[in-house]
Amino acid sequence: MEEGLSTPVGTRRSFFVKVTMLISSVIGFSLAVPIVGYLVSPALRRQPKAWISVGKIADIPSNEPTALDYSMTVKDGWQTTQSTKGIWAVKQDDGQITVYSPICPHLGCGYRWETQERLFKCPCHGSVYDLKGNVKAGPAPRPLDTLPSKVKNGELLVLYQEYKSGLSEKVEL
Ligand code: FES
Repeated sequence: MEEGLSTPVGTRRSFFVKVTMLISSVIGFSLAVPIVGYLVSPALRRQPKAWISVGKIADIPSNEPTALDYSMTVKDGWQTTQSTKGIWAVKQDDGQITVYSPICPHLGCGYRWETQERLFKCPCHGSVYDLKGNVKAGPAPRPLDTLPSKVKNGELLVLYQEYKSGLSEKVEL
């Protein structure tokens, strides 16, 4: 047999193997992208921001922190859930209201108001804040985070948002 007329079987087989692998990869990739997107997207999706009424300003006493609920309805596909965050409102002597995030700026624990001492205290690492949110003790790197708020028709409206903990600057998450 002449060498030049032989069929290059090995070369053709490896060509088909490569084409099959390429097609399989394309199919696998096209299936993987939507699946990964479906699994990851809820974690990446931010909760929508909304101005929500948290109560009447007439019900907030002066110079006494008031715990209020920021409740909003969250729709995720077919599911509707109620999300509630506790916030603190302080009405100053001049009637101005400051609203504080419930999250300690140190590492994100919840803090409470100690009526006797008239201080906000975080149980996690001992950060202490006064009525104006200033750091009085502990490792907190910045004052309590204030939340955007406004008054409309006697109602206190709040825009809930969260900030990165552990930084000296207030950086929105
Ligand atoms: S989280 Fe509040 S003091 Fe550390």
